[in-house]
Amino acid sequence: MSGHNMKKIYLYSKFERFWHWTQAILIMLLMLTGLEVHGVFSLFGFEKAVELHNTLGISWLILFVFIIFWLLTTGEWKQYIPTSKKLFDVAMYYASGIFKGEEHPVQKSRDAKHNPLQRLVYLGLSAILLPLQMITGLLYWTYNDWAAYGLDFLSLNVVANVHMACAYALLAFLIVHIYMTTTGHNITAHIAAMFSGWEEVPADYKAEEWEVHKK
Ligand code: HEM
Repeated sequence: MSGHNMKKIYLYSKFERFWHWTQAILIMLLMLTGLEVHGVFSLFGFEKAVELHNTLGISWLILFVFIIFWLLTTGEWKQYIPTSKKLFDVAMYYASGIFKGEEHPVQKSRDAKHNPLQRLVYLGLSAILLPLQMITGLLYWTYNDWAAYGLDFLSLNVVANVHMACAYALLAFLIVHIYMTTTGHNITAHIAAMFSGWEEVPADYKAEEWEVHKK
């Protein structure tokens, strides 16, 4: 982006930054305690890890309800509507253009925070992967009551395996996500923006077609 005049724009509101980092911390602690319960390593001790994992899981569920409520009431959910426009350009940029110093094909603005690839990934994450992780976790937790709830047609094995598969998918997301956050105009620019709310973008911004018009 060198050669551009830059300007600062306010992208992430206080609550958005709060939910992002709280969710990130909760998920990382859930992975840590979850893998211990699964027997991958020993850190807190099995009993303590189970207890922590359950408490963290319920905390995340409560936070998630607030996140969804915030997305719906602010209209920010529209930032997650997928578009195929420039999706290929963005994918090609991360596969090759970025290594040749090319410019990012999409610019950010308050009304278009996410590029087309982010829209698709964040939608899949928030609407499918995260809910599936929570639902299978809740089912796992209430296993002893399945008969009382009329849920005894479920297979514990399937529920457990879906929960594990989602956890590994989430870990894969996390690794790629953290790599992607280092690809701004310098290595910490995006991460700093997720703390301060302010992101630096080229001053000569051209509106993208998928901008959210909610006002
Ligand atoms: C598993 C935990 C995580 C999940 C589920 C997650 C999810 C998300 C989501 C949904 C967004 C879009 C937010 C929005 O609507 O504006 C986002 C943005 C972001 N995340 Fe995460 N995140 C996680 C962990 C992390 C970690 C550990 C870091 C940094 C080390 C990070 C850095 C960022 C940054 C910098 C952005 C803004 C990206 C941009 O717009 O270019 N995230 N994340």
